[in-house]
Amino acid sequence: MAILVTGGAGYIGSHTCVELQNAGYDVVVLDNLSNSSEKSLERVEALTGKKPVFYKGDILDRDILNKIFAENKIDACIHFAGLKAVGESVAKPWEYYENNIAGTLTLVDVMRQNGCKNIIFSSSATVYGNPAQIPITEECPKGQCTNPYGWTKSMLEQILSDMQKADNEWNVILLRYFNPIGAHPSGTMGENPNGIPNNLMPYITQVAVGKLPELGIFGDDYDTPDGTGVRDYIHVVDLADGHVKALKKIEENAGLCIYNLGTGVGYSVLDIVKNFEKANNIKIPYQIKPRRAGDVATCYSDATKAKEELGWTAKYGIEDMCRDSWNWQKNNPNGYDS
Ligand code: NAD
Ligand code: UFG
Repeated sequence: MAILVTGGAGYIGSHTCVELQNAGYDVVVLDNLSNSSEKSLERVEALTGKKPVFYKGDILDRDILNKIFAENKIDACIHFAGLKAVGESVAKPWEYYENNIAGTLTLVDVMRQNGCKNIIFSSSATVYGNPAQIPITEECPKGQCTNPYGWTKSMLEQILSDMQKADNEWNVILLRYFNPIGAHPSGTMGENPNGIPNNLMPYITQVAVGKLPELGIFGDDYDTPDGTGVRDYIHVVDLADGHVKALKKIEENAGLCIYNLGTGVGYSVLDIVKNFEKANNIKIPYQIKPRRAGDVATCYSDATKAKEELGWTAKYGIEDMCRDSWNWQKNNPNGYDS
């Protein structure tokens, strides 16, 4: 079976290419490299013995999409391609709606014209807004998003669900990721953020490698055990494996399915700092800063549904996540450019 992986050169996409190829799938990647390097696919080749077929191009470009479907027999699409920086989306909402929403509309239109109606979509826990219940099950109502990026995920979930309801030949799997961190255990693949990282773990690893002086912790007065924000961190290899399991569900003609991909365990910012220090024997200097606008106090999943219906559970623990994040950063201080 051939799988089209949009955004396959990116952080989660490249790790998913490894797991897909290891599971015997043929992989075709479409990526415009706006937030990634083709070198990640060379690392996929080094780990699996095979480079995914690669097309450099945009999901907004019908011609390249049609070319891909003409040249490959695509059975399903795993759709990672999108812009994902929360702060940037507030400053450039049009660019986010254009890229993420118009891009996905173009992709699914070309898919259906070519008779491929199987899609796995990268959604996010951000669609729950300030969650109505903790732990968060898939039945928890979607909430108000605090930024345009979040709205693109929420709206795309609605669009893909409506399409599936109108045409039950579609199989649509919406995967709501919690907080992906970690890197491939080989230390050869990982997250490669542009500029100063917004997210916690890449910020910590850049402090550890000496690129940034100290971590700012955004608030210590939340209603959580130590006052800092609590999240459900999940190892990127576990997340990648969740996509392989979701493909099996597509092969069963599952229709519309929604799954949380998380561990079901919440860790505070201070827990992460302490676990990182312990796993890697490195001190992370930090300072408490004001709360960051738009952050919620606590967000972690109930991951039972994915376990029961996909046979998927996260295997890696917090120590593995901290070790592998650091292993990638220290071996590749400048990401794929080093
Ligand atoms: P990433 O930026 O590393 O990967 C996205 C890839 O898509 C990049 O390689 C980028 O070059 C490509 N891309 C962007 N726009 C494109 C376009 N118009 N055409 C072709 N390629 C395009 O991000 P990631 O962390 O791997 O995230 C993958 C997906 O998962 C995204 O949709 C993201 O919103 C979603 N997600 C990520 C997180 C997270 O914390 N990393 C959490 C929840 C959901
Ligand atoms: N944090 C800090 N200092 C930093 C960065 C983060 O204290 O320098 C704190 C945040 O306040 C939060 C926690 O660390 O309490 C995690 O923050 P991240 O920015 O790493 O992650 P978020 O939970 O804010 O958001 C991430 C992705 C979103 C996605 C969401 C749920 O950035 O795109 O997970 O999947 F929607």
